[in-house]
Amino acid sequence: MDGNGRWATRRLLPRTAGHKFGADALKRLVRGCVQHGVQYLTVFAFSSENWQRPADEVGALMELFLQALQRETVELAAQGVVLHFIGDRSPLHEQMRELMTRAEQAPVDNPRLRLNVALNYGGRWDVAQAARAVQLAGLEMSEQNLARHMCLADIPEPDLLIRTGGDHRISNFLLWQLAYTELYFTSTLWPDFDEKSLADALADFAHRERRFGGVPPGSDDSGLRVA
Ligand code: IPE
Ligand code: MG
Repeated sequence: MDGNGRWATRRLLPRTAGHKFGADALKRLVRGCVQHGVQYLTVFAFSSENWQRPADEVGALMELFLQALQRETVELAAQGVVLHFIGDRSPLHEQMRELMTRAEQAPVDNPRLRLNVALNYGGRWDVAQAARAVQLAGLEMSEQNLARHMCLADIPEPDLLIRTGGDHRISNFLLWQLAYTELYFTSTLWPDFDEKSLADALADFAHRERRFGGVPPGSDDSGLRVA
């Protein structure tokens, strides 16, 4: 969800205003995903590197997360959204950690979308915490055992990554889980990402041919095609 700061600066607003409009864009995206039948959505809300931002911006972001947790949890559950957080919670404020746990435990009668919010998350941190867990369990440091201890091990790997804001990089998001994910970059700034932007991204994805390291179906040279 990149581009909040630039969106605000272009309007002569403080960067924090961009984050507020960014939160609205996320609500819109969640509704859109439910409508399109997307079952899993993971958003990068705050990276382990974002602490380097000026203290007032970090404070405003934390305040925004806190407000969203207080105000949106009931509405999200009503929409069928099951919330889950990934990232290192230990440096977060106690009140925030409590609200996060409560939001994760909120009963959802008709689950439609699993929403993972990455908060103080880093892809390298994820690999390191998985490695520690494998080591602590006395297991072999195999790809399979690491995969089982990564965040989001209980859901399928992402099909599509959308990055807004015009930069073409992963920025320490889900490094392990994105191995075969289709990447989609758009210059649209995050607060402007709307229903049409989501539909465009999904339409682009629909045209991708996914081979997972194999060959396209039907391109084996046996000449035999069984319908
Ligand atoms: C939002 O966009 C990302 C968050 C950390 C919430 P930015 O704040 O990175 O916006 P730009 O890149 O400065 O425009
Ligand atoms: Mg940015």
